[in-house]
Amino acid sequence: MCGIVGYVGGRQAYPILIKGLTRLEYRGYDSAGVALIGDSGKLVIYKTKGKVKDLEAVTADKDISGSIGIAHTRWATHGEPSDINSHPHYSENHNLALIHNGIIENYLSLKTELTRKGYHFQSQTDTEVVIQLIQYMMDSRSVSLEEAVPLALNLVVGAYALVIMDKDQPDKLIAARKGSPLIIGVGEDEYFVGSDASPIIEYTHKVVYLGEEQIAYIKRGEDLRITDLRNEEHTARISELEMSLSEIEKGGFPHFMLKEIFEQPRTLKASMQGRLHPELGEVKLSGVIDNRERLLGAKRIIICACGTSWHAGLIGKYMIEEFTRKPVEVEYASEFRYRRPVIFPTDVVIAISQSGETADTLAAVKLAREAGAFLFGICNVVGSSIARATDTGCYTHIGPEIGVASTKAFTAQVTTLFLLALSLAEQLGTVTDERRAQLVNELQRIPEKIEKILQHDGEIADIAKIFTYTRNFLYLGRGYNYPVALEGALKLKEISYIHAEGYPAAEMKHGPIALIDEEMPVVVIAPKRGNYEKILSNIQEVKARKGRIISVVTEGDTDVKALSDWSFEIPDSEECFEPILSIIPLQLLAYHIAIAKGRNVDQPRNLAKSVTVE
Ligand code: M6R
Repeated sequence: MCGIVGYVGGRQAYPILIKGLTRLEYRGYDSAGVALIGDSGKLVIYKTKGKVKDLEAVTADKDISGSIGIAHTRWATHGEPSDINSHPHYSENHNLALIHNGIIENYLSLKTELTRKGYHFQSQTDTEVVIQLIQYMMDSRSVSLEEAVPLALNLVVGAYALVIMDKDQPDKLIAARKGSPLIIGVGEDEYFVGSDASPIIEYTHKVVYLGEEQIAYIKRGEDLRITDLRNEEHTARISELEMSLSEIEKGGFPHFMLKEIFEQPRTLKASMQGRLHPELGEVKLSGVIDNRERLLGAKRIIICACGTSWHAGLIGKYMIEEFTRKPVEVEYASEFRYRRPVIFPTDVVIAISQSGETADTLAAVKLAREAGAFLFGICNVVGSSIARATDTGCYTHIGPEIGVASTKAFTAQVTTLFLLALSLAEQLGTVTDERRAQLVNELQRIPEKIEKILQHDGEIADIAKIFTYTRNFLYLGRGYNYPVALEGALKLKEISYIHAEGYPAAEMKHGPIALIDEEMPVVVIAPKRGNYEKILSNIQEVKARKGRIISVVTEGDTDVKALSDWSFEIPDSEECFEPILSIIPLQLLAYHIAIAKGRNVDQPRNLAKSVTVE
């Protein structure tokens, strides 16, 4: 959840660290800090509650020289956002500094023990315990820092990505990871460290993904040395980054979220590329072809995910069941991992995660692995933990998603789930060739249909202003569009802080109907395929109670429109693709309401992009 940057080399570290923090700020943004070994040889830390720009204000009149440094942007877990709780943290003698992403679960017992031994803690964080423990190892066992790090980390329970600096070694960083991602960029006589590639990409495309429980000794002028917690040596495998700098910049849009909404026609094509073959009326997924027997033999499919990815998973269930007739269950990964679920070795577990780092989804994958299930990952971030922990899978290939509210990842996940469903159906023979060709051809047309919806951005922005002071919203949908109701409500609440709930439309009369009055806008997703008449009745029920209707309808609709106060049109499509279209106006509606309320849409309060803590 926090962002980590490190640098050691021949350049001034501070500008690289600050730029890197700005790029990582989407991961956490309640405080920021930097540690440098300046020209004077002193190890200095500057840190503050607030954003990276607040940190820059703090350092404006300070010595920021030095060609080695570490920096951090925080999403608070232990201890409120404050100057003291911000990272980096010093060790007792101020010789060492550390930044950390993750949670140290046994920090209280370690802190108690270290306090008893005379170590003094400044913050309420779990993090500070790690650097104190490392110093304690050096002090009590008279070992070097390099020896103390694995000794200390073997006593730590929890998750971490961390980087350490030592005043006495101004050309060396030590980095370690367990459960949280960490990437090392390899330049010419310089190294970079990042929670992801965004602070590194500008300088080098050569990276090493640090493995689980590995420690990297990063010394300027020397090759990277990697060991693990048992002190076994590992080869540093260099990978080539495929992303470009433009992918992590706003490209003329005021916010990443809006840019990412508008990118969807292109990102959808990227998700289909090389997989969709309209000329053959086929879908080819190497993950399916290479694991045919295991996937086709599955008695049951379980989808595990969180948040938006879970909503995509619900749509995936409808698709897989419709086209393959195999039973599919969709689980919140956080519930699945703790409720002793029944998992059979004949099950296939599909883990969906944009970041590929979500702690609960990763834990669900590990649990399913222990039970012998076959694991299929649908991730966006290449080389991420979930992508690596699964047997096979399919990347969504949409480039970095930086806005905290997931948009382009959702439509890409739904598209990828469709590709998976159809590819399985093809092998199982559960869909005729003719029907398959129809679906494949229609999917190919979806990007241009999204373009058409995006042209109505201005109208949606005008309508959004009407709801600046609205306190509650209800979202209703049926069938394939029920998960869209959930996703539309999630988008609105997370960036505007307006309370919003999504419901299957027919469930409204079992409770939520009590909320409806002239104050309550009800967003109804009512395109013409599937359950149209039924949802029309639900709209009548809302109207009868003076509710205000905002509908998403198919172009040319008259009946739902006649009952609606405002309507957004989407082009007609196959029922299974309606969610990819109907979510677009709802993403724009949420965005524009949040803007009208003056919210920070890319960094909404209390949220972080990558939820690497449970
Ligand atoms: O990276 P993941 O797809 O695993 O993330 C899952 C959720 O944390 C994420 O979708 C979250 O709900 C978003 N903020 C929704 O916009």
